[in-house]
Amino acid sequence: MYISKRFENYELSGCLNPIAAAYQNYISHGKEIFDLTLSNPTKANLSYPESEILQSLSNSRSLLYEPTPKGFYTAREAISLYYSSLGFSVSVDDIFLTSGTSEGYSYIIKLICNPGDEILIPAPSYPLLDFIASLELVNVVPYYLEEKENIWTFSTKNIMNSVSKKTKLLFFVQPNNPTGNILSYKEINDLLSFAEEYNLAIVIDEVFRDYLFLNKSPQLLFSEKIPIFTLNGISKTLALPQLKLSWIVCSCPKSIKKEFYEGLEIIADTYLSVNTPVQVALADLFRVKDLIQTQIQSRITQNLDFAITQFSNCSHIKSYLPQGGWYLVVKICDITIPEDELIIDLLNQTGVYVHPGSMFRFPGNNFYLILSLLPEENLFREGIQRIIEYFC
Ligand SMILES: Cc1ncc(COP(=O)(O)O)c(C=O)c1O
Repeated sequence: MYISKRFENYELSGCLNPIAAAYQNYISHGKEIFDLTLSNPTKANLSYPESEILQSLSNSRSLLYEPTPKGFYTAREAISLYYSSLGFSVSVDDIFLTSGTSEGYSYIIKLICNPGDEILIPAPSYPLLDFIASLELVNVVPYYLEEKENIWTFSTKNIMNSVSKKTKLLFFVQPNNPTGNILSYKEINDLLSFAEEYNLAIVIDEVFRDYLFLNKSPQLLFSEKIPIFTLNGISKTLALPQLKLSWIVCSCPKSIKKEFYEGLEIIADTYLSVNTPVQVALADLFRVKDLIQTQIQSRITQNLDFAITQFSNCSHIKSYLPQGGWYLVVKICDITIPEDELIIDLLNQTGVYVHPGSMFRFPGNNFYLILSLLPEENLFREGIQRIIEYFC
């Protein structure tokens, strides 16, 4: 008996990759670590309104099991109100709940793709897209974003080289993880025209939509010609990833809407994965949004300002300006040793742990580090100083 093709690109020997092994080895010695990969908000020393959160989860309605494939109306209504507060009109009927954004991606792939079909994914971007696609037996084809004046942009020229007869879906993440770029009006037009020309459905992941650095926020995309699925959830919006609640906002042309919604309901009904307590609690949970988001926004803004100012004094490090999200990308110039070796040496010499650019599919031979802006300010600052001492 052979294991499924889903795992053909996986390392199933149980061995850690060299960076993960070096990290385990480092922490096993109890040494001080400056972990600039931290992106789990529940471990970032934020102050959560604990009693409000726990109270909203203890509603007696949670004792009743009422399977609802699309998700409870009250929860979807709370999501619709969230969009109203951002200036967008989203009908409760166009929202489907999922248990996590990854599940949202999987639902859409199941709805639209056959095994062997292709999905266009931005590069650099969120590494989990590869895993989700392989578990759904579809192939990812990267299209490269372009670097323009410190910002990464969508390029029709690059995406043309990646599309084929097997392409069914076009993914985009905004603000992108990790480059932080948000689509401009021109990029939106280019993206929509491209998808219309090749008859592709678009999937936009907006989990970081509320964390912004400039006076620019992501547009919610609609089209009458092609399906657009927008993904979001409370893992970032409320910084509550452990509650596992996300959603898909669907915008479908009238001619296919009924069929697509029924298809999605069949998938959702098959798994019924979203738990009752979180659906019951969602409207109340949204009340803690501002309190949590204000703390995170202040933390990531301070960390970003500090890092950009410090790196500007070091000619070996170029930092990019994210428009949103929780990450900062920096390019290290004049480096010749292999990426893995450098990340491991940085850890062993300085105690600073960062992600390498290759994990996110950065283009070319350049050397990038990805820094999370979420760690506590003092730890973050010490980490940045140590990076500068190491490279400059
Ligand atoms: C771009 C992006 N999408 C989705 C997720 C995960 O969302 P969820 O926890 O809702 O599955 C992450 C997590 O970091 C992310 O970076």
